[in-house]
Amino acid sequence: PVRDRVEDLLSRMTLDEKIGQMTQAERGSVTPDDVTRHRIGSVLSGGGSTPTPNTAEAWADMYDGFQRAALATPRRIPMIYGVDAVHGHNNLVGATIFPHNIGLGATRDPDLVRDVGRATAEEVAATGVDWTFAPCLCVARDDRWGRTYESFGEVPELPAAMSVIVDGFQGRRLDGPASILATAKHYVGDGGTAGGDDQGDTRISEAELRRIHLPPFRAAVRRGVGSVMISFSSWNGVKLHGHRYLVTDVLKKELGFDGFVVSDWNGIDQIDGQPGFTPQEVATAINAGIDMVMVPQDWRRFIDTLRGEVQAGHVSMARIDDANRRILTKKFELGLFERPFTDRRLLRTVGSDRHRALARRAVAESQVLLKNDGGVLPLARNNNKIFVAGRAADDIGIQSGGWTITWQGSPGNITPGTTILQGIRQTAGPSTTVDYSRDGSGIDGSYRAAVAVVGELPYAEGEGDRPDGMGLDAGDLATIERLRASGVPVIVVLVSGRPLDVAAQLPGWNALVASWLPGTEGRGVADVLFGVTRPTGKLPMTWMRSVDQQPINRGDGKKPLFPYGYGLTYRR
Ligand code: IFM
Repeated sequence: PVRDRVEDLLSRMTLDEKIGQMTQAERGSVTPDDVTRHRIGSVLSGGGSTPTPNTAEAWADMYDGFQRAALATPRRIPMIYGVDAVHGHNNLVGATIFPHNIGLGATRDPDLVRDVGRATAEEVAATGVDWTFAPCLCVARDDRWGRTYESFGEVPELPAAMSVIVDGFQGRRLDGPASILATAKHYVGDGGTAGGDDQGDTRISEAELRRIHLPPFRAAVRRGVGSVMISFSSWNGVKLHGHRYLVTDVLKKELGFDGFVVSDWNGIDQIDGQPGFTPQEVATAINAGIDMVMVPQDWRRFIDTLRGEVQAGHVSMARIDDANRRILTKKFELGLFERPFTDRRLLRTVGSDRHRALARRAVAESQVLLKNDGGVLPLARNNNKIFVAGRAADDIGIQSGGWTITWQGSPGNITPGTTILQGIRQTAGPSTTVDYSRDGSGIDGSYRAAVAVVGELPYAEGEGDRPDGMGLDAGDLATIERLRASGVPVIVVLVSGRPLDVAAQLPGWNALVASWLPGTEGRGVADVLFGVTRPTGKLPMTWMRSVDQQPINRGDGKKPLFPYGYGLTYRR
């Protein structure tokens, strides 16, 4: 049994080998030779940290190189490699990119979400990678927070239900060829910070923390999630990275989490509010219950510091052994000791037709129809004349959002897929004309419908907070106005990571579809616009009437523009 193998291994390991297992280094700061010499137990690719060329084969080669190095150590302990595959294997060019979590929450379809997890796991495993830092189980309570789109929804029940994606990632057995370790993140309260500040302070009572933010983690632990990532945020002024009560007493003991806890990127540096980690911070984090530290660049100093803290008696050997037991158990369960290298038979699944069809279905199910005056939707497929405009209409990067190919995401056609415009063109019948201009110029009164695809440009952690206003920008508004001036009915397709402040403009629009961040398969948006698929998406977030209602989901009687759960459909 795994337990005996872990104990046997542990009994033969030196302190340095144990500290190595607790160290996670970024691939750009560590060589395979370093992995061998310093017994490093884990490597990660941060957002946008990719091999050259960025192909699945190059990823697999990179992985196998690090793995060979890990196995060239006296104890032959395999390393575990992690990435942020948060909506598909989103750092890999050519991967299938699924809707971000907010869109998956809108589907209300746990079976679909499990399948999305399974498909993601296949594409990730195809490149050797063993572990995704997903799902984000935050309960986003304030849409000003830039990471709102990583949330399945604003009420605890929705992320708890969607934690089923863990079953997809981890498969029936962790040692299956296409299973990867999942991470429930960010523990706990990341979506509840005051003002929606990223990495901010969640100022609520313990009862509220338990009622709102803990249930998705409880659900994930019940599903056997293999790892949990600690949140950068604080709870009532205390950083989670040093919070022994929440990490050890609540997560590990009360919830019974038996996997390992990983820090966030340099998260231990923030415990005392000063940049850079001190010996005290290292001891505090490990004693709080963090088992593996995402260092990620300063791993040499981390190894020396933790060794010093153990030798000084500030961190017990019992704690070091507990961390190692947890990490080694998952490595055994993943089958890494038996099959440490990439199974290249999985390469054919990357960006496969089967996965793209699944993503297209997920996109269609995630669309939320919010307004449809006079039944302007669905669009007729035949004998129609449609004008499409907007900077998000023909751009895979924008429609995918943050974390795609680069950390902050990037506009531009950066990975193969179908833009929303292409989807519209492919779905319209041959007798229909589809014209396009980015800014809406060139439209005249001869069109039957105008589709404006507008919204937010990509952003990821730290960059997307919008404390001062959440409206459309001037360019998008001008595009819509050009369409409106033609007198043609205007359908707004909003590509955004959250509800935006559109109450003032809405009366002038004939239809509004919340498209969220659909990913590479824009055809799913077209499926709903043309009624190939009837809209079934429901709002995973209350839609504010104005930004000063934030946080809107406190149940204190504010009147939203659209309530949580809202979503129209077409008459049959
Ligand atoms: O997994 C992420 C986390 O969500 C935010 N900080 C960086 C981590 C690793 O890229």
